[in-house]
Amino acid sequence: MLEIQNVRVVYPNGTEALKSVSMSVKQDEIVAIIGRSGAGKSTLLRCINGLQPVTAGSITLDGQEVTQMDKAELRMLWRQIGFIWQEYNLVGRLPAMTNVLTGRLGYNSGFANLFGYFGSDHRAIALRSLERVNMLHRAKFRADRLSGGEKQRVSIARALSQEPKLLLADEPVASLDPELSWQVMEDLARVAREERVPTLINIHHVDLAKAFTDRLIGIAEGVVVFEGRPDELDDAAMDRIYRFDKPEARETADLHPADNPTHAAEAVPAVATRAELPVEVND
Ligand SMILES: Nc1ncnc2c1ncn2[C@@H]1O[C@H](COP(=O)(O)OP(=O)(O)OP(=O)(O)O)[C@@H](O)[C@H]1O
Ligand SMILES: [Mg+2]
Repeated sequence: MLEIQNVRVVYPNGTEALKSVSMSVKQDEIVAIIGRSGAGKSTLLRCINGLQPVTAGSITLDGQEVTQMDKAELRMLWRQIGFIWQEYNLVGRLPAMTNVLTGRLGYNSGFANLFGYFGSDHRAIALRSLERVNMLHRAKFRADRLSGGEKQRVSIARALSQEPKLLLADEPVASLDPELSWQVMEDLARVAREERVPTLINIHHVDLAKAFTDRLIGIAEGVVVFEGRPDELDDAAMDRIYRFDKPEARETADLHPADNPTHAAEAVPAVATRAELPVEVND
């Protein structure tokens, strides 16, 4: 389904973000990409949806080579890939429903898009997508009045309304508190499984990755250094991914790098478990 072979990315300033990355995502699979800050995770996702040119290597989605696509082909590709961002990327002044309908833009006629007109078939898909993430009751709410968890559910609904071949999520829960992170990851994994959409998620929180995905890929300095099931991610693998020099470094690691921008450059995985979460959390 998604095949990545020997992808190398060198930015114009000379930074080699990816050295040689090969991996795949099968139909029905949810895969997490983990790694410390600067490992190359976002670069890889941008390459997959054609936003970042590769220096070398191949990326195919259902046999179509992404790295060689022209603008028209890229527009078709973007229609097929649902993208979920850390900061939601919703239009704040528009209702949740309208935001979800933007996922249908690629299927609507250019003329209808100009006037913001979506036929009943598009509206039905958007409503169904909101329902899938339990947000139907917020359909008419302005996006900027929603809580962080609700915003991310709307953004998942928007991606679903594209009826995507592939879902990509870049740190989808990094802006949410731990309890909401679990809930939103639960929703994302549930809809991905129910809709049978292969899904690739960049995530700092290793425990969330282990709880909700089928396979983990660990990247360090632009190279895949681990690939396996959640139960195969042992201390040795964690050391390879996060480059802990000594075992003590692992024990004393900063648990919430995403919440602490001053430590972002030295980020290590967040490992709070559900049992450690506060009992009462406002949604
Ligand atoms: N546009 C760019 N130009 C030059 N260098 C870049 C650019 N974007 C990213 N980089 C560099 O490429 C490397 C990989 O960055 P990337 O954003 O892919 O890492 P990441 O794993 O997503 O990190 P984080 O966990 O902090 O989001 C880093 O060294 C980063 O500084
Ligand atoms: Mg990133």
